[in-house]
Amino acid sequence: MNIYKTYINGEWIGKEHNYDILNPNTLTVLGKVPCLGVEEIDKAFTAADEAFNSWKKTSLSFRISLMEKWVVELSKAKLEIATMMNNEIAKSLKDALSEVNRTIDYIKYTIEEMKRIQPKVYNGKAWGVENKYAIFNRVPLGVVLAISPFNYPINLSVAKIAPALIAGNTVVFKSSTQGTISAILMSKTIEKAGFPKGVFNMVTGRGRDIGDSLISNPHIKMISFTGSTEIGKTIASKNSMKPLVLEMGGKDPAIVLEDADLKSAAIKIAKGAFSFNGQRCTAVKRVLVSDKIADALITELLEIISNYKVGYATDENNFITPLISQGSANFVSDLIKDAKEQGAKVLIGNKFVRNLAWPTLIDNVTKNMKIYYEEPFGPVLPIIRFSTIKEAISIANDSSYGLQASVFTTNINKAMDIAHKIESGSVNINSAPQRGPDHLPFLGIKDSGFGVQGIADSIDSMTTLKGIVINYDENN
Ligand code: G3H
Repeated sequence: MNIYKTYINGEWIGKEHNYDILNPNTLTVLGKVPCLGVEEIDKAFTAADEAFNSWKKTSLSFRISLMEKWVVELSKAKLEIATMMNNEIAKSLKDALSEVNRTIDYIKYTIEEMKRIQPKVYNGKAWGVENKYAIFNRVPLGVVLAISPFNYPINLSVAKIAPALIAGNTVVFKSSTQGTISAILMSKTIEKAGFPKGVFNMVTGRGRDIGDSLISNPHIKMISFTGSTEIGKTIASKNSMKPLVLEMGGKDPAIVLEDADLKSAAIKIAKGAFSFNGQRCTAVKRVLVSDKIADALITELLEIISNYKVGYATDENNFITPLISQGSANFVSDLIKDAKEQGAKVLIGNKFVRNLAWPTLIDNVTKNMKIYYEEPFGPVLPIIRFSTIKEAISIANDSSYGLQASVFTTNINKAMDIAHKIESGSVNINSAPQRGPDHLPFLGIKDSGFGVQGIADSIDSMTTLKGIVINYDENN
């Protein structure tokens, strides 16, 4: 079995004390990664802080040349990384490869976006002030702490690391426990690209052991986090005066009006709800459907769901694969049990073998059930019926989350009206919620987060303006 090392200040660091990463397909140990202590974590931040002094002075063309080498190295390691993801997070090989490809495109676009960032010049005359010009440049912040979740161990890591590095920041990176080995393989591609030592550092360890020392390190100048709302709130409460971007949970509703193209809506909703077993913050987490067409939509959904193949991610025929842990499966199972006890009707699914959860559709979900409010992060889709559009909007907004939402209708006027009234970062008309394409701004409100990701927006969040104001005397 492989014992992996982590990368700090240009060196691969191993420890005697390691912890197990399980393969969710088999629930056996896949590999071991170092349990870092406070000392090593501090070493990573100190290295990043020191490296910032010279990295921030490098030319953009130099940083771009390294990013381009990173693209080459990541492309070479594509299959190795995707195969590891297949084993470490039970993502299908096809989806894992597409995640790595998406990430390569992300780095390329980040390079292009950075080239377009130019200083802004202000003329004092616009305010009636003579002989004054101001130049405002975007400058890096310093050490960025990047924390990524298990569901996109490559894409959501690089979506933080790439904008940080191109803008002249240095990075301390912590992946979620499950996904660490895939992230280590990705980190190797950064090393191979030849970034100067200390510019990029990765730390490993269980959140409960190292979380506090990680998020309270005094060298941190900005935190970009994707993960659970609970941890996001802890980070926010322990960091005052530090810029934060938090992307957390969601309970994205898909509202289906009676004039919607039902076949198309069902295909998009099923994919949105069940791809990667619902383990996506942007998964459709509830269907709000007009009671006039609810039965017809359910018939379409059942036809799709009943054809899903369920089993290990190592078999490419399987669409539904094991959940990330037994705890996740238990949580999903409890939500279904509670809904049933409160009077909901399970239409398909509700079968579990260890952490493998069959896709489940539940009808007649009401406010008194946990699944009405909670985010399952698993393959279970509640149906809530409504009779008026006003009621649908009110149900959609009856959530502590506000990440994304969908409206399915052939009436653009209704779609626009609903989109304006829904409390969420974005509303998709006739499509399932989704973060991509990755250059779009991506954000949540309420308990779904704050700050904006995306490529230009991430660079913005990891830089600040620095103004130089020129005052001159005309007659000298
Ligand atoms: O899980 C959270 C991700 O940001 C969702 O990304 O919409 O591309 O699956 P996605």
